Amino acid sequence: MKKILITRKLLRTCEDKAKETFEANFNLNDELYSQKKLIELSAGQDGILSSLTDKLDSDTIKKLPDTIKIISNFAVGFGNIDLEAAKNRGIAVTNTPDVLTDATAEIGVLLILGACRRAAEGIDSAKEGGWKWSADYLIGKQLTGARLGILGMGRIGQKIAKVAKSLGMVIHYHNRSKLSADKEDGATYHDNLKDLLSVSDVLSVCCPASKETVDMINKDTIEYLPKGAVVTNVARGDIIEDEALIDALNRRKVYAVGLDVYKNEPNLNPGYLKHKSAFILPHLGSATKETRTAMANLAIDNIDEFFKTGNCKNKVNR
Ligand code: GLV
Repeated sequence: MKKILITRKLLRTCEDKAKETFEANFNLNDELYSQKKLIELSAGQDGILSSLTDKLDSDTIKKLPDTIKIISNFAVGFGNIDLEAAKNRGIAVTNTPDVLTDATAEIGVLLILGACRRAAEGIDSAKEGGWKWSADYLIGKQLTGARLGILGMGRIGQKIAKVAKSLGMVIHYHNRSKLSADKEDGATYHDNLKDLLSVSDVLSVCCPASKETVDMINKDTIEYLPKGAVVTNVARGDIIEDEALIDALNRRKVYAVGLDVYKNEPNLNPGYLKHKSAFILPHLGSATKETRTAMANLAIDNIDEFFKTGNCKNKVNR
């Protein structure tokens, strides 16, 4: 049986499946391993089932033992892994696409609703008590008729578009390439970011983090948004330059933000905490029992497929 280091705790049924599939080396206390510890614990292992909290950068990958042949990431995103470094060491990297589309899109829609309809302020007031209904109390932004700009129209972006459309939003998107009419489903394509931003009453960031997308939403690009736009991010914190977005909130260039992901998670920029109009969640995108189970099972199957066939359909470093 292959020996696999599983860096974080999985749901129990998934750990049972892992035990049946390989000789699993579990993280009983679910502690966050340092890079040094990851390297040490990899000794004698054939593969690693990693999570998005593990920073497998080039330096760490260079120091992994030669026995490691696969890093199976328990996430659709793989910005935590240096793909090139893994390729140079002959290590396959795989992810868990598709199975988390619906759950993540649900949180994407929640961010849009929460930010536009001032849910953070509403929850605080309801808990504090003493609030009084009045005609102008906690007036928010209506979604019906508003333009939703989707940055990254992959599986998650398309699902958010579908739900938002049913709420009466008008969908625009920017992607590396234009989608087929079928996938577009009436959305308007913009071949560059600035054009998309200029029509985004609400922006939903859904693209993967990569060298090309890091800090894409920054001091300069934010200026293309209409005044009073809402910015939401269900993808990765790396795509947004926090200081620029917080400054835009301070100046009311941006009306509200809805965020589930941050640079340096879980230590988000404290500037967000000062803003009542920041609707913020602790990276809950895929956090449902069905989805976390499907993700872990797929991460296990990816390893199994790789060792049985020498390849894996979810390999991301080709
Ligand atoms: C979650 O954020 C994922 O990338 O799977």
